[in-house]
Amino acid sequence: MSFKHLIGTLALGAAIAFPAMAENDPAVETRQGQFKLFIHNFGVMGAMAQGRIDYDAEMAQTAADNLFHVTRHDQSRLWPEGTDSMSIDGTRARPAIWDNLDDFAAKFGALQDATEALQGAAGDGLEAMQAAFGRTAGACQACHEVYREEAS
Ligand code: HEC
Repeated sequence: MSFKHLIGTLALGAAIAFPAMAENDPAVETRQGQFKLFIHNFGVMGAMAQGRIDYDAEMAQTAADNLFHVTRHDQSRLWPEGTDSMSIDGTRARPAIWDNLDDFAAKFGALQDATEALQGAAGDGLEAMQAAFGRTAGACQACHEVYREEAS
């Protein structure tokens, strides 16, 4: 089942089953943990791409493999209705996500596609890695611009 379908189904179910979500919702903490794993792997490739550390093919490939796999984690239980930044504290997820679930899922899909390309290129030299890294960074940014609150 596609992410888009799952998240749509879930939003509908969650609205009925969980009218009031508690703060410190485990789904919120888990999705934030997922993003920490994203940045943990993305960051080391960024440091190589920008020349802050030397390019290391094996390290880049490992990070790209990790990022590929973490971005495959099923999203359907990570975004329950009522866990937006207007409804609870401790999240930067904008309410717009739940008004535009198709677009949100499409942006997540674009990230999955970019990380697949990055996995294919990361071990093939600095220039190949940089190009694929740039596309991935664009996919992160495209979603954050619309759906993530600024850090306070
Ligand atoms: C489809 C949308 C989307 C994509 C793509 C996306 N993010 Fe995010 N990201 C979010 C949202 C929404 C939040 C806020 C989550 C929350 O606070 O509940 C977030 C939060 C984060 C955080 C903060 C986590 C914390 O500690 O609270 C980091 C770091 C992050 N993203 C990194 C990345 C990186 C790196 C990429 C690309 C490899 C990426 N994100 C791609 C939507 C996205």
